[in-house]
Amino acid sequence: MENGSTILYLDRNENLYGPAPGCFGALRTVAIDDLSVYSRDFTRGVKSRLSERLSAELNIPEQQILLSEGSEDMLKQAVHCYIGPGEKMLCPAQSWWYYQKVASEVGGETITYSLKEDKDAYHYDVDELIALYEKESPRVVLIASPNNPTGNSFSDSDLKSLAEAVRESIVVLDEAYWGFADTSNEHIAELVRRYRNLLVLRTFSKYYALAGARIAFAAVGAGLSRLTKFASRYLGYNRISEILALAALDSAGYYENIGHAMREDRELYYEFFDRHPGFRCYRSSANFVLVKIPAEWKDPLKTFLEAKRIVIKFFSEPEFANCVRITLGTKEQNQRLLQALSEFLQSHRFNGASS
Ligand SMILES: Cc1ncc(COP(=O)(O)O)c(C=O)c1O
Repeated sequence: MENGSTILYLDRNENLYGPAPGCFGALRTVAIDDLSVYSRDFTRGVKSRLSERLSAELNIPEQQILLSEGSEDMLKQAVHCYIGPGEKMLCPAQSWWYYQKVASEVGGETITYSLKEDKDAYHYDVDELIALYEKESPRVVLIASPNNPTGNSFSDSDLKSLAEAVRESIVVLDEAYWGFADTSNEHIAELVRRYRNLLVLRTFSKYYALAGARIAFAAVGAGLSRLTKFASRYLGYNRISEILALAALDSAGYYENIGHAMREDRELYYEFFDRHPGFRCYRSSANFVLVKIPAEWKDPLKTFLEAKRIVIKFFSEPEFANCVRITLGTKEQNQRLLQALSEFLQSHRFNGASS
């Protein structure tokens, strides 16, 4: 139950509904062999039961499914595998801060491209991105869909245009926030079959609410054999995380209900902020919304929410200086924040004010 005394963290894009009951049930079945011995799955010519299962579900050969400790880990491996000193990676300017750091870990250079902002959404401009690719000849072009923190997606048709143009480099599609708008999977098999240089990152951290288990996977085009070798782990993966991930895949109905609740609550946030002039809530396909707020209200809002023991993300980056990002919580948690926001607006007499 939500009450005002617990700190409510809505700042890190976790899925606060928690993992499916089936995951806790699966943990209870963990046996000594799951803990004390290495996996022997490799003797059957597969990486793990999890990669086997994902291969069957996604209709992608098992060799083209890689596992990692979160998609942060797979992104790092891909960039460290392909980018050498002085080589370039393209990524969105308005995105997860880590994209702009990872190439520098191996002496690479990051070039950013801008997303376009209109009334209530951000957009990719694929033509501009292709033009930048031709000018800069980067080793890696990164797209995030949905993008963090703007929440917008990259369409399949734009992805095809980009992948057709980017034949000499690697296209990384980060789908960490997959599932909150739609759970279709059919596109992945077709894309990795068609584009040999495509890497699609997926994680169990967000939709499946298993951030603490640090388990993710990637679907890779057949041309990325260097990464496939680089990422291979002969002694296997965290067996508890595999068990949790498999149980999550068995619990589709539980997660579909969460997706449904999140879609409803995103609308609640849109309606709330659309009613208050001076605020702009960007349309999102993820489990968070980005909201532009009047600059002078940033500090008072932060102080007010701190007193209410609610934490949302306030940005320091200039691009989002007047923005906050709200992670969608459970229905009760969202109500607690919306109630606090209403009180803030009333107590500061901002209701109906325009700026
Ligand atoms: C866009 C994006 N990609 C990837 C990640 C990493 O997720 P994980 O390493 O938990 O799979 C995050 C984490 O917040 C993220 O925002």
